[in-house]
Amino acid sequence: MRPVTESVLKSLDQIDSERSKYVLQTLIKTLHQYIDEVQLTQTEWETAIDFLTRTGHMCQGPRQEFILLSDVLGISMLVDEINHSQNEQQTPSTVFGPFFVAGMPTRMYGENIVEEGGDDLMPLLVQGNILDHDGKPIVGAEIEVWQTADNGMYSGQDSAQPPANLRGKFFSNEQGAYAFKSILPISYQIPSDGTVGELLNYAKRHFWRPAHIHFMIQAPGYQRLVTHLFIQGDEHLNGDAVFGVKERLIVAYETKLADANWTDFFEIKQPFHLIQYSFVLTKEG
Ligand SMILES: [Fe+2]
Repeated sequence: MRPVTESVLKSLDQIDSERSKYVLQTLIKTLHQYIDEVQLTQTEWETAIDFLTRTGHMCQGPRQEFILLSDVLGISMLVDEINHSQNEQQTPSTVFGPFFVAGMPTRMYGENIVEEGGDDLMPLLVQGNILDHDGKPIVGAEIEVWQTADNGMYSGQDSAQPPANLRGKFFSNEQGAYAFKSILPISYQIPSDGTVGELLNYAKRHFWRPAHIHFMIQAPGYQRLVTHLFIQGDEHLNGDAVFGVKERLIVAYETKLADANWTDFFEIKQPFHLIQYSFVLTKEG
């Protein structure tokens, strides 16, 4: 080990939290080792500092370039993998992504999350249950959903959309069920106007993510679940720019004619798409 590495490690010895000390000292050890291994040049160091500085400057409100960078480098999925060892029953988790916005309105069971646009598109109804490992319904689970509009952009990215467009918070009802109306999500390209765009262009990589709806589900006593539902048949399922696709999260939609069953409750008076999917949460501890 080089003297400078030893000195820096020693300088972190007084950190009270054993965990923080371990994480930081391991970071220094690994980073120094990496720099030594590639024999980093002064110019490369300057390029790296400039890249990270500009990445920071891109971060503002809903635009989170560092999350996007973590996503395209597979770091988000690695952290997900380490922290959510999957089992047969639990719904798999996937990337959080950079486009979540907190504080969205609470909506009623079956409410439409489309506030603007999409009038000429077939409505989509998403419906299912929130369950525990034994298949018992979880009542009052909080379900945040967010997705892109039909131009492939999220509200927050696109000033033409109202802030809560295609977003909302729901609670599972007395039967543990949730439902909302929307439109089918479409595949979209992640933002290319920042440092992540530069990196992907440099590596000759594409920007596409397959169509999906984001979910964040939490209930007292259960682990929080951050996941997506991907739409079966999407041409980008095998090449997600952020490596987030998992087989069990790919869902098919049916096309249904509006009959009394649906018309009465959900007030859908025309043919519509239907996705039925139940999420399974794991107890804490
Ligand atoms: Fe997304």
